[in-house]
Amino acid sequence: MTFDPLDPDYQIDPYPHFEALRAEPAVWVEPLNAWFVGRYRDVRRMAMDTKTFSNRRFSEISKGEFDYAPGVDQLVATDPPRHTRLRKLAAAAFRPGRVRAMEEALTEITHGYLDPLVERGGTFDFHQDLASRVPIHAITRMLGVPHEDGPTFRRWTADVLSAANRHTMAPAELARLRTSVDEVRAYFTDVVARKRRTPGDDMISDWMQAREGQDALTDDEVLALAILLLVGGDSTTAHLLSNTVATLWEHPEQLEEVRRDRSLIGRLIEESLRYEPPVQTVFWTTTRDVDLDGVTLKAEDAVIGVWSSANRDPEYFPEPDRFDIHRDSGGHQAFGFGPHFCLGAGLARSEARIVLEAVFDRLPNLKPAGGDPVEWVPSFWIRGPRALPVVA
Ligand code: HEM
Repeated sequence: MTFDPLDPDYQIDPYPHFEALRAEPAVWVEPLNAWFVGRYRDVRRMAMDTKTFSNRRFSEISKGEFDYAPGVDQLVATDPPRHTRLRKLAAAAFRPGRVRAMEEALTEITHGYLDPLVERGGTFDFHQDLASRVPIHAITRMLGVPHEDGPTFRRWTADVLSAANRHTMAPAELARLRTSVDEVRAYFTDVVARKRRTPGDDMISDWMQAREGQDALTDDEVLALAILLLVGGDSTTAHLLSNTVATLWEHPEQLEEVRRDRSLIGRLIEESLRYEPPVQTVFWTTTRDVDLDGVTLKAEDAVIGVWSSANRDPEYFPEPDRFDIHRDSGGHQAFGFGPHFCLGAGLARSEARIVLEAVFDRLPNLKPAGGDPVEWVPSFWIRGPRALPVVA
């Protein structure tokens, strides 16, 4: 099997393609003008070596002209020491009190969406009607923007993330993407200006007040952080939930086990993150020529690290294609590694636990609705179903 991340078959099921990726130190993908690397030890080492594998062009490589904050220092697209500065200031909004309050609110938010589904019974879409609703609601609350705008935000985030496939898109799709990027930017430019005048009890206001000595974030940096939180925390967490449920359908004996013993939910979430990570890749650039086991990566080459391939590397995880909640999934790369390790990992894990516990409690007979196979979001970067029909 060849390795072609733009092949629609790859985007439906990338896993069989990773053996070909890991057979080489790096595979050049011409249409993307980028190297792909997929061995666990390489991806992990590169994530730590920011001097050689820079995040500087993360947004440019992943989104091209659809970057929502070009020319601005973005957390995910800077290296130390600029990244260290941004990360310290950004982390101010993830203080324990705010995250704890969010976790408390999550229970109420989850039951708010579950109530009508439990009452109505029958068929519903687990992804669209539940998994996609809770994370965006949580993020709107954290950012201090109306949760009624959730559906619009979901459209924007899906479009922004789809930009990794821009090389294969039709003009109409590219036009829609342009509109979404312009709209999300205009929306948050306005929000930032309003919160500058009238701060609230939310993360955007926290970022405006954050100080490291004399240093503070500029309005453009706050704008970029707000959109990063939206794009990075919404569909990712929604997909963690749907990927977990879709994987459990394939492993009914493990579903029964978790239903019987809720203390296994933590293991379930970690194994799901290893087996079906919602974020599959990271986007680096080499700062100098590098010899990778005989392959020369030239200075300024784009290098796409494949977290999901690292998670299936038999050198690190024995029988990696076997889903097993009892294995040691520790060391998976679903939240990245090194200085850019996901700032929302704790929140995403809590969210997944709260929603799954509520689903097991209140929908004890939940099962797949059958019919068509799962339709996956067409992407080599983001992994998750577009819809997941279920019967309560
Ligand atoms: C299951 C859900 C999630 C997954 C799989 C995920 C995955 C990731 C990954 C792989 C990275 C590293 C990117 C890199 O190496 O350059 C990252 C970074 C980040 N994530 Fe998440 N994420 C999730 C949820 C969240 C949530 C809920 C939030 C916030 C509310 C969030 C905020 C961030 C931020 C701000 C960064 C940038 C950190 C930095 O560059 O220093 N993520 N995430």
